[in-house]
Amino acid sequence: MKKTTLWLLPLVLVAACSSPTEDTDVPLVKNSDTGRWYSNAQVDEGAALFATNCAGCHGVDASSTDQWKKTDINGNYPPPPLNGTAHAWHHPINVLSQVIEEGGIAMGGQMPSFSGQFDYQQKLSLIASFQSYWNDKVYDTWVLREKASRE
Ligand code: HEC
Repeated sequence: MKKTTLWLLPLVLVAACSSPTEDTDVPLVKNSDTGRWYSNAQVDEGAALFATNCAGCHGVDASSTDQWKKTDINGNYPPPPLNGTAHAWHHPINVLSQVIEEGGIAMGGQMPSFSGQFDYQQKLSLIASFQSYWNDKVYDTWVLREKASRE
């Protein structure tokens, strides 16, 4: 019991230090580069991180597979596309950021956790990189959901 507590302590401390930043909502002001909340620099930074850490599963252009609703023989779902054609646009930024941080394994999924690997700004850049594939209709719908999630 004691061992477990000690092991958890660094995680708790990290969470305590990083939460104020993560709780700060990203302003949804239109950036002059993109007309969206993010800048081109964020997309570029995120694309580089995405290529190294995510593309192996989600595809270089985040398109993964259009068969993302079909489970494999073990009952697992494939990595879904993040390019606006699947489900990711249902989630506000803080949920997307949480998925990157925690992965899905703990919830019975397949995505590994990236806990502590990216700071909040890098997670935002990762999100910007795959949102840059979303068409305006998907993006605008997401903005409405993001705003509603903050009310
Ligand atoms: C080993 C394969 C793998 C890697 C690497 C991976 N993912 Fe995933 N990802 C998945 C799978 C599979 C899911 C579906 C949920 C699950 O099974 O955990 C998922 C789900 C997601 C979701 C939720 C999508 C939705 O529709 O709700 C997001 C966002 C996401 N991943 C982003 C990322 C990012 C960003 C990276 C890189 C930092 C990454 N993933 C790396 C396999 C992976």
